[in-house]
Amino acid sequence: MAKLVRGFRDIFEPQSKNFTQLENCAREVFSLYGFSELRLPTVEQKELFVKSTGETTDIVQKEMYAFEDAGHRQLAIRPEGTPGVVRAYLENNFVQQAPVQKFYYIGNMFRAERPQAGRYREFEQIGAEYIGNSAPAADAEVILMLKDIVAKFGAKNYTVKINSLGCDKCRPLYRQALIDFLSKEKDTLCENCQTRLEKNPLRVLDCKIDGERFKGRVPTMQLCPECQAHFDEVQRLLKGKINFEVDPMLVRGLDYYSRTVFEFQAGDASQNAIAAGGRYDTLVKNMGGPATPAIGWAMGAERVILSRGDVEIAKPKSVYFVSMDKACNEAAFNLMQAVRAAGVRTEGGLFDKNIKGQMKQADRCGASYAVIIGSDELAAREVTLKDLQTGNQQKISFDTLPNEVKKLV
Ligand code: HAM
Repeated sequence: MAKLVRGFRDIFEPQSKNFTQLENCAREVFSLYGFSELRLPTVEQKELFVKSTGETTDIVQKEMYAFEDAGHRQLAIRPEGTPGVVRAYLENNFVQQAPVQKFYYIGNMFRAERPQAGRYREFEQIGAEYIGNSAPAADAEVILMLKDIVAKFGAKNYTVKINSLGCDKCRPLYRQALIDFLSKEKDTLCENCQTRLEKNPLRVLDCKIDGERFKGRVPTMQLCPECQAHFDEVQRLLKGKINFEVDPMLVRGLDYYSRTVFEFQAGDASQNAIAAGGRYDTLVKNMGGPATPAIGWAMGAERVILSRGDVEIAKPKSVYFVSMDKACNEAAFNLMQAVRAAGVRTEGGLFDKNIKGQMKQADRCGASYAVIIGSDELAAREVTLKDLQTGNQQKISFDTLPNEVKKLV
């Protein structure tokens, strides 16, 4: 028998309803903030992620589903949405026509990580990218928008951490200070961090082993006056509107960030970020466009759902059509369509089964009523409507059935 691929999932109801609910909350809030939907392709040039997500990141080094297609093109199934958004922004020439753009996207991302609770190889991200606004107000706006979505959905147990990674002026100094400090500890670093030290020393702070060890001891970022003023203003705008904590150890695992970065974290497991993002003021330029500031985030839908927990989503009431005789099938079928047209959830149509089999299915569906049509009913142009809870029955004419059931369910 065919088997599911490890790290991938089938998601049935009622679990799948959580996703719809979260997506609906997000769409409502995105609309309030003036964000418009961008539907991105799932496959991009591999190069796009190597250059933007970052050559030294875990995502590109170990987790990306990259392949060569029949035309010898080097492609990748998207591990994240931001590079695709920037590519689309540049390729469609928004730079010239309308450089300030607020996009959102909802889609599945793919990373070959080790599967565990809250970490999947295919997962859904709901993301937002605000391109063309360098003001701290944009940072505060996207963070509060994220909070509004999570709150609307009903997830409560999370903390918000923010930090500033500075800019091309102040970060290199910090990078060097970090290299100087960590070089003295080189022999004690884990295998991964030994490599990070050379290529991406900030990532050591993010390491589950070494990051914890150096907490409080590592040099902290000294922001240049412009970056400090920006970060202060972001905090001022957020104060009183959201609880947050400045965490100097928050560095994020992607290469394109500058200035403000943030995470919404739930619980204390390693895969605890339910959503994360930050500024990427140099990415548009690095990808061949003019210098254009930008900020955004993405939430992991599965993790937001996990952090809230399932809530009971009431199954809509329905009616179930039973035909007792081959001669009644067509009338039953036509009535089913009429009842649906009246806006009532309608099931049935298992007309090859005997009555017992059909009634059993009505039960399995959790239908509130069975609509039964036999030859007597057909002759009188009426149906028997049976309340499946009480067993009470009544006759209703074909013509009035849609309206009558609409009143009942
Ligand atoms: P990221 O931190 O790589 O950032 O992912 C964002 C969120 O996606 C994470 O906080 C997490 O909730 C979810 N996520 C990531 N990997 C998995 C996984 N394997 N299973 C389940 N959920 C996962 C980005 O992707 C950036 N593009 C965010 C961004 C947008 N920054 C600026 N704009």
